[in-house]
Amino acid sequence: MTIQASYDQWSKAYDTDRNITRDLDHAVMQQLLGGRFESILELGCGTGKNTALLATLGDTVQALDFSHGMLKQARQKVQASHVRFDWADLTTVWPAPARAFDLMACNLVLEHIEDLNFVFAQAAHCIKPGGQFLVCELHPAKQYLGSQARFEHARGTTLIPVFLHHISDFTRAATQNGFTVERLNEWWHADDDPRKQPRLVSFMFRKALP
Ligand SMILES: C[S@@+](CC[C@H](N)C(=O)[O-])C[C@H]1O[C@@H](n2cnc3c(N)ncnc32)[C@H](O)[C@@H]1O
Repeated sequence: MTIQASYDQWSKAYDTDRNITRDLDHAVMQQLLGGRFESILELGCGTGKNTALLATLGDTVQALDFSHGMLKQARQKVQASHVRFDWADLTTVWPAPARAFDLMACNLVLEHIEDLNFVFAQAAHCIKPGGQFLVCELHPAKQYLGSQARFEHARGTTLIPVFLHHISDFTRAATQNGFTVERLNEWWHADDDPRKQPRLVSFMFRKALP
C-alpha cells in the first residue's frame, strides 16, 4: 500500500489508537514552542494534532498534507479563520509563498520522504530570513532496531513505507540549505526504558539572516 493510501486508511483511528510516539511528539511540541509568530507553515499536519497548538501561537497557520483522509479529520478538529489546510505532496514544489513564514514545523513525516535535501531546499525558500524550523521525527536508533510506522486494523497490520535518515543526514541537508542547528534533543516517553534508545529526535533549525 502507498504512504498516501495508508494514511487515508488510518485517518479515522489515528487520534484514538494507542500511540505513545504520537503522544510524546505532542508533548515535545508543547515543551519546545512558545511565544508568538506572525505566520506558521506546518508540513504533514495529519489529523491536526499539532495544528491546534500552532493555531494558538500564530496569527496565521497554513498546514499541508497529501492524505485526504487525514486532512478531513484536521479540518473538523481545527476550525478557525486564521488556519488553512491545503493538499500538497511535500516531494514536489510546495504551494506556499516565498520568504513568508517565521516558524515552520514538521513532525513524524520525514521518515516517509526519501530526499531530505529537497525538503530543506523548499523550507529555505518558504521561510523568512531568521525564521525557525522545528523538526521532530522518530529517532533513527529506533529504525536501526526495526521500528516502523504501522497501524492495526480489522484485517491485520499495515506497515507504512519508510526511509532511513541518520542524524547527520538531517543536519547536512539543513546546513547545505542555509540553516543552522540551534537545538538538538533526544526524547523518551515515560513508558520507555531511559537506558535504551530514544524514541524521538528534535531539531530546532534557524535560517541565517542575509
Ligand atoms: C505519522 S503522521 C504525522 C501527522 C502529524 N504531523 C502528527 O504529528 O500527528 C505522517 C503524516 O505525513 C503525511 N505525509 C507523508 N508523506 C507525505 C508527503 N510526501 N506529502 C505530504 N504529506 C505527507 C501523511 O499523510 C501523514 O498525515
